[in-house]
Amino acid sequence: MAGRGKIRSIYESVYRQSLEDPRGFWGACAGNVAWNRVWDEVLDASGDPFFRWFTGGVLNTCHNCLDIHVEEGRGSATALIYDSPVTGTTRAYTYRELRDLVARFAGGLSRLGVKKGDRVVIYMPMVPETVIGMLACARIGAIHSVVFGGFASRELAARISDARPKVILAASCGIEVNRVIPYKPLLDEAIRISSVKPDHCVILQRPQEKALLQEGRDISWEACSTGAETPCVPVAATDPLYILYTSGTTGTPKGVVRDNGGHLVALIWSMKNIYGLSPGEVFWAASDVGWVVGHSYIVYGPLAYGCTSILYEGKSVGTPDPGAFWRVISEHNVRVLFTAPTAFRAIKREDPNGRYIRDYDLSRFRMLFLAGERCDPDTLHWAEERLKVPVIDHWWQTETGWSIGANAAGLGLLPVKPGSCTKAMPGYDIRVLNDHGEEVPPGVTGNIVIRLPLPPGCLTTLWQNDSDYQKTYLSEYPGFYLTGDAGFIDEDRYLWIMGRTDDIINTAGHRLSTGAMEEVLAAHPDVAECAVTGVVDEIKGEIPLGFIVLKAGVKHDRKVILQELVQMVRAKIGPIASFKVAVIVRRLPKTRSGKILRGTLKKIADGEDYRVPATIDDPGTLDEIREDLAAIGYPRRPG
Ligand code: COA
Ligand code: AMP
Repeated sequence: MAGRGKIRSIYESVYRQSLEDPRGFWGACAGNVAWNRVWDEVLDASGDPFFRWFTGGVLNTCHNCLDIHVEEGRGSATALIYDSPVTGTTRAYTYRELRDLVARFAGGLSRLGVKKGDRVVIYMPMVPETVIGMLACARIGAIHSVVFGGFASRELAARISDARPKVILAASCGIEVNRVIPYKPLLDEAIRISSVKPDHCVILQRPQEKALLQEGRDISWEACSTGAETPCVPVAATDPLYILYTSGTTGTPKGVVRDNGGHLVALIWSMKNIYGLSPGEVFWAASDVGWVVGHSYIVYGPLAYGCTSILYEGKSVGTPDPGAFWRVISEHNVRVLFTAPTAFRAIKREDPNGRYIRDYDLSRFRMLFLAGERCDPDTLHWAEERLKVPVIDHWWQTETGWSIGANAAGLGLLPVKPGSCTKAMPGYDIRVLNDHGEEVPPGVTGNIVIRLPLPPGCLTTLWQNDSDYQKTYLSEYPGFYLTGDAGFIDEDRYLWIMGRTDDIINTAGHRLSTGAMEEVLAAHPDVAECAVTGVVDEIKGEIPLGFIVLKAGVKHDRKVILQELVQMVRAKIGPIASFKVAVIVRRLPKTRSGKILRGTLKKIADGEDYRVPATIDDPGTLDEIREDLAAIGYPRRPG
């Protein structure tokens, strides 16, 4: 069967070439992009450590995603299939239809005064209009910043304040299986508390919820969709295409900036060489457009490469169709699916024997890619056995925009080692360093770093914050980008990503900062101090667990305090934080210098063996913590 690891892999020679001659390698790949003006330099190192790709080049990302296909005679091919079990809708858009809708909406945005370089925040669910909004921004050179719909007002406000958008695009509601989530009140509150007010909000009224529009500021989606068709505005390859905020080590989100030129070059390369696709084939990234996976592989990658992309509004389980994933694959002829392991763990729990898989014809389905968190070997084997296709775990970050480590199907699959995400992708010179900055031998765990320059497609800086970019990623080990992940490279140069070295956790494939949750909890009047760590969860991989120390003499009911804390995180960060468990403890374990031993807390809660840290202030605290955790049923062993 094609693409099932039968062809000899040319990975090693491709990878070697990318490191030995990055300019030659990426310059050749850039031939697959339509340029208004060809670049002067493939790689501009003059601003080291701020490297730029394809300087002097001029292009338009929307042109590459839509117009080019129409101009080259593929206008009637399907660009996008919207499949929404939560609304009972399926609708396909050809490249020509999508181009026309985008060009008119771009005209509407121009009429509202949006120009090249202006920011547009997009707070929308998984509907085609979200994709239209993103591409319309790209068309006129405006910089979009999509905010995931599961974030509450405070998180949205933080992003509005930082991006300073001229216009915000939003919908009246999102739909969570059978619950309608009104978005407009969240948006209005975010604008109220934000330090920046947009000129206009464009609101998509969905039939499930009618939003109240504010006269003068808010206009309807229809009114913005009747603009004159607007041509693509040429932009520099190095101009920002979008800002995507992601969790950092503090409560303040980091605005990852993606350029236009390098981004397209890398994504087109990845569609063919990593995912092994051909133009015209159907690719499904079952993620959300609010995350990087959605940006790269629901919108820009598949469309630039001429594939059909699936936009799926629903969950992997509880849709209410238990075979929803298999229905989508067979109905739309999906060749490659990309999702998070959590989606498969949820399916595995609902349907352990894969009974619903057998109801569908999956004979043309070729491969499953997983990312977002480490894929446990059990889930990988379950998926392989039930689907009878290769299952590839690959590793990447919001910052990189495409995978750092993968098994590149288009180059010929390498043998799979369950638990590993195979090898470094072109341009990523990955090293593992100890805390002194020395490279460790194969098999030894350390800090994973990438030697600069990062390949095309990776972040170029943080939005209007070069100094935080340097401080966060480049200062720890000069000359290297700090991934924030710990792991090792084995004797065969396979990558093993074992966890974060900072306070970030991955819950159901969503990246969350425990520091941001601690900030919220600490604001409760009865809380003296607190710590949040990620603990193992059977379905979501990891969930946050709060350790709370109350102020002396607190009289309130402890159960009520815990409920209030859960509610506060939900209201301030959003339901997506999945913060549902907290425990009141007498003290937190600390080092003699007063640092909370979060790593030890996590190990105790997970029931792992641990050594009492030599630096601990009072080892007796650990016995107390074990007792307090036992009272709420921790540690829990995965069932
Ligand atoms: N708007 C509002 N609320 C949202 C939301 C959105 N866009 N997305 C999620 N939420 C809410 C959920 O309803 C849930 O609320 P609850 O606590 O009231 O139940 C909460 O946020 C947590 O959501 P989630 O972590 O997605 O859990 P879930 O139980 O709803 O679903 C899975 C679990 C595994 C089925 C689901 O996460 C899934 O299918 N994930 C796989 C794909 C994926 O998202 N990958 C991302 C990166 S590749
Ligand atoms: P995000 O920025 O949301 O894509 O999250 C990036 C983080 O998710 C990485 O830094 C890793 O910690 C984790 N991650 C993503 N993919 C994998 C993977 N395949 N294996 C292990 N961890 C992963």
